[in-house]
Amino acid sequence: MLIKKEPDIPSSQITPKRLYLNRRKFLAGTAVTGLAAAAGMRLSEFNSPEASVQANAKIEGIQKSSFSTTEKITPYKDVTNYNNYYEFSTDKYGPAGLAKDFKTRPWTVTIDGLVPKKQVVDVDTIVKWATPEERIYRHRCVEGWSIVVPWVGFSLSELVKRAEPLGKAKFVEFTTIYSPNQMPGLKVPVLDWPYVEGLRLDEAMHPLATLCFGMYGEVLPNQDGAPLRIVVPWKYGFKSAKAIVRVRFTDRQPLNSWNKSAPDEYGFYSNVNPNVDHPRWSQAKERRLGEFLKRPTLMFNGYDQVASLYSGMDLKKNF
Ligand code: MTE
Repeated sequence: MLIKKEPDIPSSQITPKRLYLNRRKFLAGTAVTGLAAAAGMRLSEFNSPEASVQANAKIEGIQKSSFSTTEKITPYKDVTNYNNYYEFSTDKYGPAGLAKDFKTRPWTVTIDGLVPKKQVVDVDTIVKWATPEERIYRHRCVEGWSIVVPWVGFSLSELVKRAEPLGKAKFVEFTTIYSPNQMPGLKVPVLDWPYVEGLRLDEAMHPLATLCFGMYGEVLPNQDGAPLRIVVPWKYGFKSAKAIVRVRFTDRQPLNSWNKSAPDEYGFYSNVNPNVDHPRWSQAKERRLGEFLKRPTLMFNGYDQVASLYSGMDLKKNF
């Protein structure tokens, strides 16, 4: 997600060399020492999942989802120590430590725009709107790495239904928190803050699109988007906005942050598509964190059930 403009640079140069070398070690499964150092931890602490995140409460009454993949789940320590969360840091090993004391309560979400009535809802009310489900999804980052995560949440459609969007609402925009006192990355103008994402309303209503508040059976760690994020498994990871404070219904296509900063590189749709290269690298393959060999990337990240949302559209133009 770094906005360096030189054409045809190898992916090894997209990320600063120090991080790239770290990542290579990490991907080979041998970066424990580097990670522990980056997070300011002793090696023994690193082996405990609680070391880099606050003790996370168990979520009760989770049901299994039929949408889950049976693929191997990525270890918790990898998913919670290798994050894209630019409000904290552009260093993927940074958010785990920097988000440790991030305040996720009290927290409200404003639901407004083309709705009959603006609502300001407490997050603890929202999470009770439906039965929590464990949804084990593939998650593909635009940078070429992927993970398999047991998210906990329910269909985003539950929120949309409660908002009762007006007939002319065609899109939904998600705005994430802007809290400069808590988020050191906001001092860096990598993006035009706050982080904004958007979906077409029918995409948001698709049962796979998830309103997420947990992972691995527990409350979401701060670095993974607590207290509330979306997860859109057929799209590149950047569509899955973290720490949402506003959901706005609109008749115009929202201008999402990455599209605003580099329109040639990051589109509005951002469906996972091995046939459409990023201008600076191929999207044909991906590396699962912890694995050495790359695997082919699948159209819609393997979630073929969303294909009908895009019938008749040129997905090369609407990337
Ligand atoms: N949401 C916010 N608010 N800020 C971010 O920087 N990064 C995005 C997305 N959501 C991001 C965000 C990107 S690029 C990815 S790949 C995923 O979060 C990463 O989610 P993860 O750290 O839980 O794997």
